[in-house]
Amino acid sequence: MTNLSILPGKDRVGKAECFDEIRLERGNLYSIVGSTGSGKSRLIKDIEQLVDGDSITGRRILLDGQPVGKERRNRLSNSLIAHLGQNMKFVLDISIEQFIGQHASARGLPTHVRDSLAERVIATANRITQEPIFAELQLSALSGGQSRALMASDIAHICDSPVVLIDEIENAGIDKHEALQALVGTEKLVLLVTHDPHTALMAGMRIVLDHGGIVRTVERDEQEQRLFLELETNYRNQTTLQQRLRRGEHLA
Ligand SMILES: Nc1ncnc2c1ncn2[C@@H]1O[C@H](COP(=O)(O)OP(=O)(O)OP(=O)(O)O)[C@@H](O)[C@H]1O
Ligand SMILES: [Mg+2]
Repeated sequence: MTNLSILPGKDRVGKAECFDEIRLERGNLYSIVGSTGSGKSRLIKDIEQLVDGDSITGRRILLDGQPVGKERRNRLSNSLIAHLGQNMKFVLDISIEQFIGQHASARGLPTHVRDSLAERVIATANRITQEPIFAELQLSALSGGQSRALMASDIAHICDSPVVLIDEIENAGIDKHEALQALVGTEKLVLLVTHDPHTALMAGMRIVLDHGGIVRTVERDEQEQRLFLELETNYRNQTTLQQRLRRGEHLA
């Protein structure tokens, strides 16, 4: 699979969405924005369920230009689409190393790559979260931020699902930039719901929703690119202060 298309449906009052096709490519990040209740999560669900005119919105999702028949839908959704949720907590009583090993073997990866894989997954997760994780740590002992970092890294390195859907990543105790970089860097198509300008501008294009319908797409231009760099500097400063606050330091 190299691309995914959204074909128009209707908004909440039954008005047709005004676009022909929105085509999303692998290796790119797209953000989804709009006010509360505007239909962002519904759009994510349409994509996750590979709808074909049969959800409340009437949208259709095509893979490489083709609709996905009902009989293949569940299987394709499971193998192609990963969903990174907001409240992620592991309940399994196994170590991180065992988890990675089991997941890699379930995905059919040979033994000789599994050891180096565990190292890579943990290294990436540690760039995403500030609370370090290590191979022997039990999954059930991970904090929310550590869990999400491990999950993002796991999706980047082990899942072969090309599409990743993320509903609101902020306030989760993880480095958004590192997490998204890890996913996009492994040629995933990443769709991200956000209310945060800095996060939204990480994407080259954003999809705007209102009253349940897609009302426009906005390409990030040069001015917004410059604004993004400013916001990035602020974000880094904020993150540094957060770390120092956690360590109990004087901040001024
Ligand atoms: N095109 C549509 N037609 C009919 N109902 C819709 C449509 N889009 C969304 N809805 C419904 O509107 C409600 C709000 O949508 P949704 O939860 O997707 O909003 P949201 O943008 O994710 O809001 P929040 O920012 O609060 O998470 C849901 O019940 C959803 O099923
Ligand atoms: Mg929502």
